[in-house]
Amino acid sequence: MNGTAVNTRPILEVKDLSVYYGAVMAFEDISFTVESGEFVAVIGPNGAGKSTLLKAIVGLLSDFDGRITKGDIFYDSKNITNSKPHKLINKGISLVPEGRRVFMTMSVKENLEMGAYSLPKSKISAEIERIYGIFPILYERRKQRAGTLSGGEQQMLALGRSMVLSPKLLFLDEPSIGLSPNYVKLIFEKLIEINESGTTVFLVEQNARMALEYSRRAFVFEIGKLSFEGRSKDLIKDERVKRAFLGG
Ligand SMILES: Nc1ncnc2c1ncn2[C@@H]1O[C@H](COP(=O)(O)OP(=O)(O)OP(=O)(O)O)[C@@H](O)[C@H]1O
Ligand SMILES: [Mg+2]
Repeated sequence: MNGTAVNTRPILEVKDLSVYYGAVMAFEDISFTVESGEFVAVIGPNGAGKSTLLKAIVGLLSDFDGRITKGDIFYDSKNITNSKPHKLINKGISLVPEGRRVFMTMSVKENLEMGAYSLPKSKISAEIERIYGIFPILYERRKQRAGTLSGGEQQMLALGRSMVLSPKLLFLDEPSIGLSPNYVKLIFEKLIEINESGTTVFLVEQNARMALEYSRRAFVFEIGKLSFEGRSKDLIKDERVKRAFLGG
């Protein structure tokens, strides 16, 4: 066995999915499967439709005037196409959105409590203690206002908050953007830890090299379509990937 247990049981299946913003196509006919326990990455150029894909899966598309015009999304073999975000959160799907959105005027602890709102009161503090165990920095900073944290600490908080409900499937949109190399590494190491504890990780990332080094499998997007997929250790040597994303 090598580290993470990957079951050959799909946790996520996307079939022939197309999304439009008004009359403008974001992407068309995307199909792929993610197995339970996997760590997968999505790489692709700006505007390819990566964030749109995450929004479509987690039910946030309509907030951005987008809509699914074709296709289906299955989670644990159940059709979740166009489900509402709060329902998906309760089913174990969580998203760390682009741009580390934390509640700036609240403390670290209060931010984590916001992530735990749907839990019975008696369970909240134990869950937050569990998060402090994964992210000791958040314990150290628990009383500090989130707006005064460094960028890297805010991203840890966004990640910590998304883990409060112990999601089965965690989506992240560009978690490393704007962070120093040390923090980027720390974020990726946390994602490995989270994945090894049983959460399926689905990462959209600009930093293609890191994404391919840490993930097991990856999907490569072009504008508006899924171009190809493969094992990350193969893609890192793939000429098309090297040319487009690895500066070689
Ligand atoms: N709310 C919106 N209304 C209209 N068009 C949109 C909207 N959101 C995104 N788009 C368009 O959809 C396309 C895909 O955008 P998306 O944000 O999904 O790309 P991305 O792959 O995440 O890019 P990046 O790497 O820059 O984050 C782009 O052409 C974008 O301009
Ligand atoms: Mg994006």
